[in-house]
Amino acid sequence: MNNFDVKSFGIVNARVILDKALKNHYAIAHINANNLEWIKSTIEVAVETNSPVIIGFSMAAVKYIGGYKCCVDICVDIAEELNKIKKIPIVIHLDHGNYEACKEAINAGFTSIMFDGSSLPFEENLTKTKDLLVLANKNDVSFEAELGAIGSNLADGELADIEECKIFANLGITCLAIGIGNIHGIYPDDWKGLNFALLNDIHHATMNMPLVLHGGTGISDEQIQKSISLGIAKININTECQLAFAKAIRKYIESEYDLDLVKKGYDPRKILTFGANAIKETIIEKLKLFGSYGVNK
Ligand code: 13P
Repeated sequence: MNNFDVKSFGIVNARVILDKALKNHYAIAHINANNLEWIKSTIEVAVETNSPVIIGFSMAAVKYIGGYKCCVDICVDIAEELNKIKKIPIVIHLDHGNYEACKEAINAGFTSIMFDGSSLPFEENLTKTKDLLVLANKNDVSFEAELGAIGSNLADGELADIEECKIFANLGITCLAIGIGNIHGIYPDDWKGLNFALLNDIHHATMNMPLVLHGGTGISDEQIQKSISLGIAKININTECQLAFAKAIRKYIESEYDLDLVKKGYDPRKILTFGANAIKETIIEKLKLFGSYGVNK
Protein backbone atom coordinates (compact mmCIF):
# COMPACT_ATOMS: atom_id res chain seq x y z
CA MET A 1 0.00 0.00 0.00
CA ASN A 2 1.63 3.32 -0.95
CA ASN A 3 0.98 6.78 0.43
CA PHE A 4 -1.33 7.76 -2.38
CA ASP A 5 -3.58 4.77 -1.69
CA VAL A 6 -3.97 5.34 2.04
CA LYS A 7 -4.57 9.07 1.60
CA SER A 8 -7.48 8.30 -0.67
CA PHE A 9 -9.16 6.56 2.30
CA GLY A 10 -8.55 9.59 4.56
CA ILE A 11 -5.53 8.10 6.31
CA VAL A 12 -3.08 10.90 6.99
CA ASN A 13 -0.36 11.96 9.41
CA ALA A 14 -1.39 14.18 12.33
CA ARG A 15 0.38 17.39 11.35
CA VAL A 16 -2.38 19.30 9.56
CA ILE A 17 -5.20 18.32 11.91
CA LEU A 18 -3.21 19.20 15.03
CA ASP A 19 -2.04 22.57 13.70
CA LYS A 20 -5.63 23.36 12.73
CA ALA A 21 -6.90 22.27 16.16
CA LEU A 22 -4.38 24.48 17.96
CA LYS A 23 -5.25 27.46 15.78
CA ASN A 24 -8.99 27.02 16.24
CA HIS A 25 -8.92 26.13 19.96
CA TYR A 26 -10.16 22.58 19.98
CA ALA A 27 -8.48 19.23 20.56
CA ILE A 28 -8.28 16.06 18.47
CA ALA A 29 -9.30 12.87 20.28
CA HIS A 30 -6.65 10.18 20.43
CA ILE A 31 -8.55 6.97 21.09
CA ASN A 32 -6.45 4.00 22.15
CA ALA A 33 -7.27 0.86 20.18
CA ASN A 34 -7.61 -2.40 22.10
CA ASN A 35 -8.97 -4.71 19.40
CA LEU A 36 -10.97 -4.83 16.18
CA GLU A 37 -14.12 -3.46 17.85
CA TRP A 38 -12.21 -0.37 19.02
CA ILE A 39 -10.71 0.34 15.61
CA LYS A 40 -14.03 -0.12 13.83
CA SER A 41 -15.97 1.95 16.38
CA THR A 42 -13.46 4.81 16.20
CA ILE A 43 -13.49 4.93 12.40
CA GLU A 44 -17.30 4.65 12.29
CA VAL A 45 -17.68 7.59 14.68
CA ALA A 46 -15.16 9.68 12.72
CA VAL A 47 -16.99 9.10 9.44
CA GLU A 48 -20.53 9.36 10.85
CA THR A 49 -19.80 12.64 12.68
CA ASN A 50 -17.26 14.21 10.29
CA SER A 51 -14.64 14.39 13.02
CA PRO A 52 -10.90 13.76 12.57
CA VAL A 53 -9.49 11.17 14.99
CA ILE A 54 -6.20 9.60 15.96
CA ILE A 55 -6.21 5.85 16.59
CA GLY A 56 -3.45 5.13 19.10
CA PHE A 57 -1.81 1.72 19.41
CA SER A 58 0.32 1.00 22.47
CA MET A 59 3.10 -1.57 22.03
CA ALA A 60 1.02 -4.01 24.11
CA ALA A 61 -2.03 -3.43 21.91
CA VAL A 62 0.08 -3.98 18.78
CA LYS A 63 1.21 -7.33 20.19
CA TYR A 64 -2.34 -8.31 21.16
CA ILE A 65 -3.86 -7.36 17.81
CA GLY A 66 -1.27 -9.21 15.72
CA GLY A 67 1.66 -6.93 14.96
CA TYR A 68 2.30 -3.55 13.35
CA LYS A 69 1.37 -4.55 9.82
CA CYS A 70 -1.87 -6.13 11.04
CA CYS A 71 -2.88 -2.89 12.85
CA VAL A 72 -2.22 -0.85 9.71
CA ASP A 73 -4.06 -3.30 7.46
CA ILE A 74 -7.17 -3.36 9.66
CA CYS A 75 -7.32 0.46 9.76
CA VAL A 76 -6.72 0.79 6.03
CA ASP A 77 -9.28 -1.86 5.07
CA ILE A 78 -12.00 -0.41 7.30
CA ALA A 79 -11.21 3.11 6.07
CA GLU A 80 -11.40 1.90 2.47
CA GLU A 81 -14.84 0.47 3.20
CA LEU A 82 -16.24 3.44 5.15
CA ASN A 83 -14.20 6.53 4.33
CA LYS A 84 -13.42 6.43 0.61
CA ILE A 85 -15.92 9.15 -0.19
CA LYS A 86 -15.74 11.45 2.84
CA LYS A 87 -11.99 11.11 3.49
CA ILE A 88 -12.26 12.23 7.12
CA PRO A 89 -8.68 12.50 8.47
CA ILE A 90 -7.78 9.31 10.37
CA VAL A 91 -4.31 8.85 11.87
CA ILE A 92 -2.65 5.50 12.62
CA HIS A 93 -0.44 6.37 15.59
CA LEU A 94 2.00 4.50 17.81
CA ASP A 95 1.43 5.41 21.49
CA HIS A 96 4.42 5.45 23.89
CA GLY A 97 6.77 3.63 21.52
CA ASN A 98 10.33 2.79 22.45
CA TYR A 99 13.15 3.36 19.94
CA GLU A 100 12.78 -0.01 18.16
CA ALA A 101 8.99 0.10 18.16
CA CYS A 102 9.04 3.51 16.45
CA LYS A 103 11.17 2.12 13.63
CA GLU A 104 8.94 -0.93 13.25
CA ALA A 105 5.79 1.19 13.19
CA ILE A 106 7.21 3.50 10.51
CA ASN A 107 8.27 0.51 8.39
CA ALA A 108 4.80 -1.05 8.72
CA GLY A 109 3.02 2.10 7.49
CA PHE A 110 1.94 3.90 10.68
CA THR A 111 1.32 7.53 9.75
CA SER A 112 2.33 8.89 13.15
CA ILE A 113 4.56 7.85 16.03
CA MET A 114 5.17 8.84 19.62
CA PHE A 115 8.67 8.25 20.90
CA ASP A 116 8.48 8.04 24.68
CA GLY A 117 11.99 8.72 25.91
CA SER A 118 10.73 10.35 29.11
CA SER A 119 12.30 7.72 31.35
CA LEU A 120 15.73 8.28 29.74
CA PRO A 121 18.26 10.93 30.78
CA PHE A 122 17.40 14.16 28.91
CA GLU A 123 20.42 14.03 26.57
CA GLU A 124 19.58 10.47 25.51
CA ASN A 125 15.90 11.31 25.02
CA LEU A 126 17.02 14.28 22.87
CA THR A 127 19.48 12.27 20.76
CA LYS A 128 17.04 9.43 20.11
CA THR A 129 14.20 11.86 19.39
CA LYS A 130 16.38 13.68 16.80
CA ASP A 131 17.43 10.40 15.25
CA LEU A 132 13.89 9.03 14.90
CA LEU A 133 12.62 12.38 13.67
CA VAL A 134 14.87 12.12 10.60
CA LEU A 135 13.34 8.72 9.78
CA ALA A 136 9.80 9.96 10.47
CA ASN A 137 10.23 13.01 8.23
CA LYS A 138 11.64 10.87 5.44
CA ASN A 139 8.46 8.77 5.57
CA ASP A 140 6.01 11.68 6.01
CA VAL A 141 5.15 10.40 9.49
CA SER A 142 4.16 12.86 12.23
CA PHE A 143 6.07 12.82 15.50
CA GLU A 144 5.08 13.18 19.16
CA ALA A 145 7.79 13.41 21.81
CA GLU A 146 7.39 13.33 25.59
CA LEU A 147 8.86 15.36 28.43
CA GLY A 148 7.98 14.78 32.07
CA ALA A 149 6.97 11.21 32.77
CA ILE A 150 3.27 10.29 32.69
CA GLY A 151 2.95 7.28 34.97
CA SER A 152 0.08 5.15 36.20
CA ASN A 153 0.14 6.66 39.68
CA LEU A 154 0.97 10.10 41.05
CA ALA A 155 4.28 8.98 42.55
CA ASP A 156 5.56 7.99 39.07
CA GLY A 157 4.47 11.24 37.40
CA GLU A 158 7.08 13.90 36.69
CA LEU A 159 6.50 17.51 35.67
CA ALA A 160 7.92 18.70 32.36
CA ASP A 161 10.79 21.18 32.46
CA ILE A 162 10.16 24.43 30.56
CA GLU A 163 13.70 24.83 29.21
CA GLU A 164 13.68 21.23 27.94
CA CYS A 165 10.28 21.85 26.29
CA LYS A 166 11.79 24.85 24.44
CA ILE A 167 14.64 22.70 23.12
CA PHE A 168 12.20 20.02 21.92
CA ALA A 169 9.87 22.55 20.31
CA ASN A 170 12.79 23.79 18.19
CA LEU A 171 13.47 20.31 16.77
CA GLY A 172 10.52 20.43 14.38
CA ILE A 173 8.46 17.72 16.06
CA THR A 174 4.71 17.69 15.37
CA CYS A 175 3.52 17.81 18.97
CA LEU A 176 4.78 17.40 22.52
CA ALA A 177 3.30 15.32 25.36
CA ILE A 178 3.96 16.95 28.72
CA GLY A 179 3.69 15.88 32.31
CA ILE A 180 1.55 18.48 34.11
CA GLY A 181 0.22 16.38 36.97
CA ASN A 182 -1.65 13.98 34.66
CA ILE A 183 -1.48 10.18 34.93
CA HIS A 184 -2.91 7.22 33.03
CA GLY A 185 -5.94 5.40 34.40
CA ILE A 186 -8.17 6.43 37.28
CA TYR A 187 -7.13 9.50 39.30
CA PRO A 188 -6.93 8.92 43.07
CA ASP A 189 -9.23 10.89 45.38
CA ASP A 190 -6.34 13.05 46.59
CA TRP A 191 -5.36 14.17 43.06
CA LYS A 192 -4.79 17.93 43.02
CA GLY A 193 -5.74 18.46 39.35
CA LEU A 194 -3.69 19.68 36.39
CA ASN A 195 -0.90 22.21 36.88
CA PHE A 196 -2.27 25.05 34.73
CA ALA A 197 0.48 27.51 35.70
CA LEU A 198 3.03 25.09 34.24
CA LEU A 199 0.88 24.41 31.14
CA ASN A 200 0.57 28.15 30.56
CA ASP A 201 4.34 28.63 30.84
CA ILE A 202 5.07 25.73 28.48
CA HIS A 203 2.50 27.01 25.98
CA HIS A 204 4.15 30.42 25.92
CA ALA A 205 7.64 28.96 25.75
CA THR A 206 6.73 26.68 22.81
CA MET A 207 4.39 28.90 20.77
CA ASN A 208 2.70 27.12 17.82
CA MET A 209 3.56 23.72 19.23
CA PRO A 210 0.43 21.58 19.70
CA LEU A 211 0.65 20.11 23.22
CA VAL A 212 -0.67 16.67 24.16
CA LEU A 213 -2.57 15.71 27.29
CA HIS A 214 -2.26 12.03 28.19
CA GLY A 215 -4.43 10.39 30.83
CA GLY A 216 -7.62 12.06 29.59
CA THR A 217 -9.89 9.74 31.59
CA GLY A 218 -11.38 11.24 34.74
CA ILE A 219 -10.30 14.86 34.16
CA SER A 220 -13.28 17.20 34.72
CA ASP A 221 -14.91 18.92 31.73
CA GLU A 222 -13.83 22.32 33.10
CA GLN A 223 -10.17 21.24 33.32
CA ILE A 224 -10.30 19.73 29.83
CA GLN A 225 -11.65 22.97 28.40
CA LYS A 226 -9.17 25.11 30.27
CA SER A 227 -6.30 22.93 29.08
CA ILE A 228 -7.48 23.34 25.46
CA SER A 229 -7.53 27.13 25.93
CA LEU A 230 -3.86 26.84 27.04
CA GLY A 231 -2.52 24.96 24.00
CA ILE A 232 -3.59 21.33 24.42
CA ALA A 233 -4.54 20.14 20.90
CA LYS A 234 -4.56 16.34 21.35
CA ILE A 235 -6.13 14.45 24.25
CA ASN A 236 -5.55 10.73 24.82
CA ILE A 237 -8.39 8.54 26.04
CA ASN A 238 -8.18 4.85 26.82
CA THR A 239 -9.55 3.83 30.24
CA GLU A 240 -12.88 5.61 29.77
CA CYS A 241 -13.72 3.57 26.65
CA GLN A 242 -12.59 0.38 28.40
CA LEU A 243 -14.86 1.13 31.37
CA ALA A 244 -17.82 1.88 29.07
CA PHE A 245 -17.23 -1.36 27.14
CA ALA A 246 -16.92 -3.47 30.33
CA LYS A 247 -20.07 -1.91 31.82
CA ALA A 248 -22.08 -2.64 28.66
CA ILE A 249 -20.89 -6.25 28.49
CA ARG A 250 -21.76 -6.68 32.19
CA LYS A 251 -25.26 -5.36 31.47
CA TYR A 252 -25.63 -7.74 28.52
CA ILE A 253 -24.70 -10.78 30.57
CA GLU A 254 -26.60 -9.72 33.70
CA SER A 255 -29.70 -9.17 31.56
CA GLU A 256 -29.18 -12.74 30.32
CA TYR A 257 -29.45 -11.65 26.66
CA ASP A 258 -26.85 -14.32 25.91
CA LEU A 259 -29.29 -16.99 27.12
CA ASP A 260 -31.96 -16.04 24.56
CA LEU A 261 -31.62 -18.96 22.14
CA VAL A 262 -34.36 -17.71 19.83
CA LYS A 263 -32.66 -14.35 19.19
CA LYS A 264 -29.25 -16.04 19.22
CA GLY A 265 -28.06 -13.69 21.97
CA TYR A 266 -24.98 -15.86 22.36
CA ASP A 267 -23.65 -14.73 18.95
CA PRO A 268 -20.32 -13.03 19.76
CA ARG A 269 -21.04 -10.36 17.18
CA LYS A 270 -24.19 -9.38 19.13
CA ILE A 271 -22.33 -9.34 22.46
CA LEU A 272 -19.40 -7.32 21.13
CA THR A 273 -21.62 -4.90 19.19
CA PHE A 274 -23.37 -4.10 22.47
CA GLY A 275 -19.97 -3.20 23.92
CA ALA A 276 -18.89 -1.38 20.76
CA ASN A 277 -21.98 0.86 20.90
CA ALA A 278 -20.90 1.96 24.37
CA ILE A 279 -17.42 2.79 23.03
CA LYS A 280 -18.98 4.84 20.23
CA GLU A 281 -21.16 6.81 22.67
CA THR A 282 -18.10 7.57 24.81
CA ILE A 283 -16.07 8.75 21.81
CA ILE A 284 -18.92 11.02 20.67
CA GLU A 285 -19.11 12.59 24.16
CA LYS A 286 -15.36 13.24 24.05
CA LEU A 287 -15.46 14.79 20.57
CA LYS A 288 -18.17 17.18 21.74
CA LEU A 289 -16.22 18.07 24.88
CA PHE A 290 -12.98 18.59 22.94
CA GLY A 291 -14.74 20.77 20.30
CA SER A 292 -13.67 18.57 17.37
CA TYR A 293 -17.11 17.05 16.75
CA GLY A 294 -18.09 17.69 13.12
CA VAL A 295 -15.18 20.05 12.33
CA ASN A 296 -14.55 18.26 9.05
CA LYS A 297 -17.78 19.21 7.31
P1 13P B 1 -6.30 7.06 30.05
O1 13P B 1 -6.29 5.57 30.03
O2 13P B 1 -6.15 7.61 31.42
O3 13P B 1 -7.51 7.61 29.36
O4 13P B 1 -5.01 7.58 29.28
C1 13P B 1 -4.79 7.18 27.95
C2 13P B 1 -3.47 7.64 27.47
O5 13P B 1 -2.97 8.67 27.86
C3 13P B 1 -2.77 6.78 26.50
O6 13P B 1 -1.55 7.29 26.09
